Amino acid sequence: MKEMAEKKGRTKIGLFGITKGTMLEDQVEQYLKAETQGAVMYCALARLAAEQGFVDIAAALGDLAGDEARHAGLYAVLNGHAPQDLLAVLSQFAQLETAAQGKIDAFAQQAHTLGLHQAAAAIAATADDEVRHGKVLEDLLAVQKENNSN
Ligand SMILES: [Fe+2]
Ligand SMILES: [Fe+2]
Repeated sequence: MKEMAEKKGRTKIGLFGITKGTMLEDQVEQYLKAETQGAVMYCALARLAAEQGFVDIAAALGDLAGDEARHAGLYAVLNGHAPQDLLAVLSQFAQLETAAQGKIDAFAQQAHTLGLHQAAAAIAATADDEVRHGKVLEDLLAVQKENNSN
């Protein structure tokens, strides 16, 4: 079974929900919150660093943010927050990511009308990212479907 999973690009580590209902649950929840806030804060600081011309600091903070996001993901899995039906969830996310473009563009437009053109451009750039995310997810699902049909 393990070999089969590896063959199709999947590995299995069973951490899902294993701290839920144990004495660790509350602590895991607190770590999840702290790591999530850490990821956001490092991302924000990285953006500020870039704006202020600290290119190396921005890159390093971006890496730290990635670490904290991964840590948050661990705690989310440990307490069983992440949806377990991976492929179904990815399919749903692919649609949401793609559909986000119109809403975000409209939001960016609102910023334009307030004269906040730089903010509008930055917001609009996130819409492009969301579309790319949707495409990445769709491609992954297509590969998975192809693998399963072989
Ligand atoms: Fe961390
Ligand atoms: Fe996204």
